[in-house]
Amino acid sequence: MVNIILIGPPGAGKGTNAKQISNFYSIPHISTGDMFREAIKNQTPLGNLAKTYIDKGLYVPDEVTINLVKERLSCDDCKNGYLLDGFPRTLAQAEALSIIGKELNRPITHVLDIIVSEDVLINRITGRLVCKKCGAPYHIDNHKPKVEGICDLCGGELVKRVDDNADTLIERLKQYHMQTEPLINYYKNLNLVYSIDGNQELSAVFNQIKSILGEIK
Ligand code: AP5
Ligand code: MG
Repeated sequence: MVNIILIGPPGAGKGTNAKQISNFYSIPHISTGDMFREAIKNQTPLGNLAKTYIDKGLYVPDEVTINLVKERLSCDDCKNGYLLDGFPRTLAQAEALSIIGKELNRPITHVLDIIVSEDVLINRITGRLVCKKCGAPYHIDNHKPKVEGICDLCGGELVKRVDDNADTLIERLKQYHMQTEPLINYYKNLNLVYSIDGNQELSAVFNQIKSILGEIK
């Protein structure tokens, strides 16, 4: 069984690889970013609150995010493994996750740290399009859909994310370095970290991930 965390800066390829890992290992893909965007689309109280932070590139408060993930990890479909994309992002979230994992007997087994250089990140974010319906990410040059403007997976319309602009990206990168990067050492101390070279082309990145998780299937 694999209970995975994907860590990496904005544009590292968390969502892209999460879709592939989730399909290959038949485990749910839990993206806090996607959950917040869905709530924003539906104009729920959670969505209205999250929007005030996401639009500025800031993190949504820990308490809100932790409760959301706790509820999701308690679902039955997580009992044979799960994949967290974009959670935890702060030390408080990592500590809460450790308690949740113990309570549910679903502790983290792998932390995949996707490493990508900053100039590559900027190109990936500025060229990204995402599916309005399922959130799947594409890229105008390196990951084109089969039919322009349409998601390969669900047929949804491809759009630009509201937070994919230069100003917000600078803030998102700053928050990542300040609040999330320290988690890599936190998990290194628990011997859970596997470094992934995210600068490689799409299939090479996924092959490296499979070579780490491979024997589990
Ligand atoms: P979130 O949606 O998680 O955004 P993020 O962390 O900024 O990461 P991205 O989704 O931008 O990048 P990614 O790593 O998924 O890259 P992708 O695969 O799309 O969070 C958004 C916001 O929600 C946060 O800013 C925060 O406000 C809030 N939030 C979420 N979680 C939170 C939490 N836990 N606590 C508090 N707040 C939270 O790839 C990018 C592009 O590159 C795509 O176009 C893709 O096609 C392309 N690409 C990917 N890999 C490759 C490759 N190997 N080669 C070439 N192109 C590639
Ligand atoms: Mg993503």
